[in-house]
Amino acid sequence: MRKLIVANWKMHPATLTEAQKLFERTARVARSLTTCDVVICPPIVYLAGFPKVSRGKVMLGVQDIFWAEEGAYTGQVGPRMARSAGASYVILGHSERRVLAGDTDEMVAKKVRSALAAGLRVILCVGEQERSSDGSSAVFVKHQLQKSIRGVSKNLAANLIVVYEPVWAISSHQPSRLDTPETTLEMTLYIRRVLHTMFGAVIAKKIRVLYGGSVNAKNAAGFLSRAGVDGLLVGKASTDAEEFAAVLRSASKLT
Ligand code: PGA
Repeated sequence: MRKLIVANWKMHPATLTEAQKLFERTARVARSLTTCDVVICPPIVYLAGFPKVSRGKVMLGVQDIFWAEEGAYTGQVGPRMARSAGASYVILGHSERRVLAGDTDEMVAKKVRSALAAGLRVILCVGEQERSSDGSSAVFVKHQLQKSIRGVSKNLAANLIVVYEPVWAISSHQPSRLDTPETTLEMTLYIRRVLHTMFGAVIAKKIRVLYGGSVNAKNAAGFLSRAGVDGLLVGKASTDAEEFAAVLRSASKLT
């Protein structure tokens, strides 16, 4: 399967002009690499500011959506709105939204179903807050995954992408600790087993599993080659065009 690299710009950069520059530089590198898929998820307000001509091989995503199509929901954006702004992917259940915006597993599941029904591909994040040595992290991740995709029909499940995002290993977590490909491998295999049980072998094989702990130019190749993943969700490093280009080149070599 081709590697998928997702850039989650989070709430960066501060202006549209900077966002356009970062997009142009990233899109140029992405276009030159034919062996991996790239999705850029900027703050939603910037989507319309990216010229169609420079999109080429880059796909666009948003960092959240609300479950309703439209209505009296101040501040929210529905899945069809995101699509009409140019997004074909949406990140849901990111740990920062679970903590800062209070997204529960039930809310995430409503968003997942609504996004899939609207034709978006869903990049669903799951992961434990702290790693325990007694196996309870795996059980936590299993339950979070099961609850976050409750009610997803088998015929739409192939449009899911699951990100294993150990919260303790992401750069915004204080203190942030580095994960290793080897410990990640145990968890990604486990996630694949859960998906297999829920959707069967054929569909489970179509669901990409990504790693979403802290990744940069130095460790990307290790995670891509030894963690049993089909790609990466990159936060901080994706807002530095050169660093992200190096991550993309690692992925391209490994596909
Ligand atoms: P980071 O974020 O790459 O900045 O550690 C990863 C994430 O939030 O998934």
